[in-house]
Amino acid sequence: MYLTREEERLLDGENGEALRRAMRILLTLGEMNNAERLIPITSAQISGVSYKTIGDAGLEFLQDLAKDGARVMVFTTLNPAGVDVLAEELGFPQEFINKQREILSAYESMGIIASCTCTPYSVGNLPRFGEHIAWAESSSVIYANSVIGARTNRESAISALAAALVGRVPEYGLHLTEERQGSFRVEIKAKLKSSTDYAALGYYVGKNYSGIPVFTGASPQAEDLKALGAALATGAISMFHFAGATPEYREEKLEVVEVGEEELREAWEHLNTCDEPEIITIGCPHASLREVLEVVRLNPRREVWIFTSRQVKELAERYIKNENIKIIADTCMVVSPLEELGIRCIGVNSAKAAFYSANLSGISVRFDSLENLLRAE
Ligand code: F3S
Repeated sequence: MYLTREEERLLDGENGEALRRAMRILLTLGEMNNAERLIPITSAQISGVSYKTIGDAGLEFLQDLAKDGARVMVFTTLNPAGVDVLAEELGFPQEFINKQREILSAYESMGIIASCTCTPYSVGNLPRFGEHIAWAESSSVIYANSVIGARTNRESAISALAAALVGRVPEYGLHLTEERQGSFRVEIKAKLKSSTDYAALGYYVGKNYSGIPVFTGASPQAEDLKALGAALATGAISMFHFAGATPEYREEKLEVVEVGEEELREAWEHLNTCDEPEIITIGCPHASLREVLEVVRLNPRREVWIFTSRQVKELAERYIKNENIKIIADTCMVVSPLEELGIRCIGVNSAKAAFYSANLSGISVRFDSLENLLRAE
């Protein structure tokens, strides 16, 4: 891989151990993927934030990097952590909370903004069309590529951090125009009535296909695209096009796959693993203000936890009068240790939350539309 003189100096450790390690990671990644060079990025989004997922080994790694003087070169935000400011009130173990605070402080000492949201585009990390970025967290990656038209591969926690420190990424995959074309067309034959239907569609396609799907036959809202993308990304898909809704959509001749009511039902049944949720959890990916206000409008008669960014929480709080609604920032139903509160069955309207709650936390889910979940007694 071609390196500039400056990049070679970083690799030789002339600017410190942290940058040497970061360059080594980027070089290895680039060589594995036949990249010809590194290209500059304008922002990064880092995953690997919750103490639940990175543990003590991850915390020590971050503290070592911070001690070595690591500082990010580009605007960099963070994925959700394992707890939020209400953590003690929610009853999470104090040791977990302390460790989580140490992780955030290690990131902050590297110049990273502790935004703790998986919708960085909603809190100011909003790249322009065509910009190269290095984002980790599959739902934000697919949203950036598909809805915004920025360019990122699905980075790991480590490679996104390395890219943020160096300010560059290897140029391969979704950074290249020719790798961003549609691979097959999904003709939607079902009537999609809610973002949960879009989530079921995404889960079905993500589970059965790979490549870049091109959807036709529906008119999604922004929140529907967010739900669709997050569900597609539970498989290996990091970009999609949607006719009439995403910026790089072009009409092209492609193999056609039809998805109708039967396929949606199959996804629905696969995701549903319990009937009687103890609480309803909304906000995977983190809820927009419109989604929070929709919960408020439905006036739930049972407990619902909404996960969102600090900014949306602050805006939304004054509209919440119903005591059944708890709004929680910085974390989510998957990366917080919900299972340690003894919760065994949650209601979700997100396919991604359904998939990971079952597979990562061992919590069963009732997967249903927001209306059905909130209207039930
Ligand atoms: Fe975000 Fe947590 Fe879902 S990080 S995409 S709310 S699993």
